[in-house]
Amino acid sequence: MTTAPEPILVVLISGTGRNLQAIIDAIAGGLVNARIAAVISDRADAYGLQRADEAGIATEVLLRKDFASRADHDRALAERIASHAPDLVILAGFMRVLSADCVARFHGRMVNIHPSLLPRYRGLHTHARALEAGEREHGASIHFVTEELDGGPVILQGRVAVRDDDTPETLAARVTNEVELRAYPLVVAWLAAGRVRLGSDGVYVDGRRLERPLQLDDCNEEAI
Ligand code: GRF
Repeated sequence: MTTAPEPILVVLISGTGRNLQAIIDAIAGGLVNARIAAVISDRADAYGLQRADEAGIATEVLLRKDFASRADHDRALAERIASHAPDLVILAGFMRVLSADCVARFHGRMVNIHPSLLPRYRGLHTHARALEAGEREHGASIHFVTEELDGGPVILQGRVAVRDDDTPETLAARVTNEVELRAYPLVVAWLAAGRVRLGSDGVYVDGRRLERPLQLDDCNEEAI
């Protein structure tokens, strides 16, 4: 029997790395057939780097201040990513906006998790903005990365109800724990298995174009 080669992942982080950990755990648990070749951070103090170390994954830090310009930093990031010949590039709490060139280089292979129900609340401070607007539900979206910031085709969304006493912090914690940490490993598993791909007119799942994003509550390990 021949086994399919493991898809290679590169994960980009800036922070605590809870999503990274969920993906590491899903690989270890056999949900995701892939190997993380490297975790790359733009911050030396990102706790996610320790998580990667503990899992025996190579880490690299590329600080903006070590490059003359934003464009140089971005080019170096793209080179470091490409050096691993990844099948997938996973942005997991990576807080820099990548240039159009970098995004184009990994077109169809780069995904991001964004803490809102896209297309609502692109950009920063999504939880506070959702609360200010009086939203009754909020959530997170996993999408292919395109030139448009937080604007690429959405693969999957998960929702939580907003509570009357929510603060941005409590809402963020619920979105991460109840949606993000469940959703990202699933989507990475499907991408690694070649079940989800980006077509010229949107997201395809098992060869069929999605009319609307998948909803986390309808999905599990087997069913999309
Ligand atoms: C997540 O909420 C993600 O949606 C946002 O940044 C946070 C990353 O958290 N883009 P972590 O680094 O995975 O703990």
